Amino acid sequence: MSQKIPPNPSKLPWFENFARPGFQDTSTTHELPYDHSILLENLMDPAHIPISHDRTDWTAKREDAQPLLFKVTERTDRGFAGWWGKEKDQSMPNFLRFEAPCVLQNNRELVDEKGEKNYFSGLFLCTPSGQGKSLLIVRFGGTKSSPLAKLFPKWYFHQNASKVFEQDMGFLSSQNEVLLKEKVPTKELYINLRSSDTWVAEYRKWMDKVGDGMPYHIGHSTISLPKVPAVVEHAPAGLVASISASLPGQGRNRDNVLRQTFPTDISGI
Ligand SMILES: [Fe+2]
Repeated sequence: MSQKIPPNPSKLPWFENFARPGFQDTSTTHELPYDHSILLENLMDPAHIPISHDRTDWTAKREDAQPLLFKVTERTDRGFAGWWGKEKDQSMPNFLRFEAPCVLQNNRELVDEKGEKNYFSGLFLCTPSGQGKSLLIVRFGGTKSSPLAKLFPKWYFHQNASKVFEQDMGFLSSQNEVLLKEKVPTKELYINLRSSDTWVAEYRKWMDKVGDGMPYHIGHSTISLPKVPAVVEHAPAGLVASISASLPGQGRNRDNVLRQTFPTDISGI
């Protein structure tokens, strides 16, 4: 694509629900301290929502946690797609699609009591931004919104979206550490239940298929770790941190900082 060669519109991503009359969405961006693969796994795991996001997401209620039904309908080198829903309802009204490299979407149609059809979408654009780091653009929306939602300012929904990612943060960043430490494919670490983890298992199996084209990958049964591991940024703690902060020119070299702060005969260094 350049000024001489025009763009090919058929290659531009198109999300039909966003063009429907009356569609409104809340969009947020998040920089996250865990790997692109962990981010995708989390976003394609509907089973954790009622428990981890109880009443933060207005539709999430802990007492609603239950087995889910899944049906995979497509598997290609670009990703996979299929239907899912609650086992209790014996229906699968949600359609999920993962399309590499970065699009995950969950769409749903609802027909109300008047026979009017409405459309809802969760769209997740997930970008790797380094080893163990990712950048996410989320767009949640629909052609019909709750009358109650109109009473709240926009910033409320933006902070609520950030709160959802804070609720997942502790678990996901430690999961990232475990994957890097254990150095084994996920089938050695995960118990993938068919009633909750179908998409997660699909994703790691897709990684088995295409991971050899990536700089590194952790698949369901294959693994290829980065040749050069990421520089781990650890903030120094306690006394050393406060000394380091007051002597920025000395950087984080612990020995230098301690030598300047304590006379040699006291510190014994
Ligand atoms: Fe979550």
